[in-house]
Amino acid sequence: MGGVLMRDERIIVALDMHTMEDMKQMVTQLGDSVSFYKVGMELFYSVGIDAITYLKQANKQVFLDLKLHDIPHTVAQSVRALTRLGVDLVTVHGLGGRTMLSAAVEAAKQEAEIKGVKRPKILAVTILTSMDTKDWQEIGGAFDVSQEVSCLASVARLAGVDGMISSPHEAKVVRQQYGSDFLIVTPGIRPAFSMSQDQKRIATPAQALRNGASYLVIGRPITAAINPQEAAEKIIEEIREV
Ligand code: C5P
Repeated sequence: MGGVLMRDERIIVALDMHTMEDMKQMVTQLGDSVSFYKVGMELFYSVGIDAITYLKQANKQVFLDLKLHDIPHTVAQSVRALTRLGVDLVTVHGLGGRTMLSAAVEAAKQEAEIKGVKRPKILAVTILTSMDTKDWQEIGGAFDVSQEVSCLASVARLAGVDGMISSPHEAKVVRQQYGSDFLIVTPGIRPAFSMSQDQKRIATPAQALRNGASYLVIGRPITAAINPQEAAEKIIEEIREV
């Protein structure tokens, strides 16, 4: 836009693709506009650590979203391995419980110290937004989903995690409850220029930030745009004043 560098480090672009070629093309197209990327299961299980190595060599920050959920020892050992890769944010599943979450936090701290690398921040996932109360109760849940999310959030906080994944709508309550040093990462973002009235569980980038989000995870509004860099810059423009 007008040749001026447009960049906002609060935007994390989700690289939901399965080849190195597609990933490199997207990162190249976005250039200096984007400095933070999410690598999820699709890309990681397709190309492995090459995706991380490429992004790190390109001087990008990496959010590795693998939603780890296993016994505490296994999760801790996995977090150690991911710490050695130099990723910046890692997700673990809140349903793994307090001992598992604390083990993840401790493992990241210890491994970073041993290797002299930066400690990845640990984020807890609560209930996936694809589940509603009916789905939750079908598998034995006693509360409704929103109560369950706040229960999991408080356990995550007690376990010492750095933050959590939250819908833009829940972000407000989480921010009020846990204060400014807790990271809130929100997916479900649709830019104002593409917002339609019938979409409910999503928010514009500006709304999500006003609700307290620290980072916005944005996928298709950027990656499926005809001109991804232009889409990213339009979003950056939308949040400039927030
Ligand atoms: O929808 P979009 O392409 O922007 O999604 C970006 C990322 O956010 C995806 O990688 C997906 O894992 C995550 N997401 C989510 N919950 C939603 C919608 C998307 O966690 N309700």
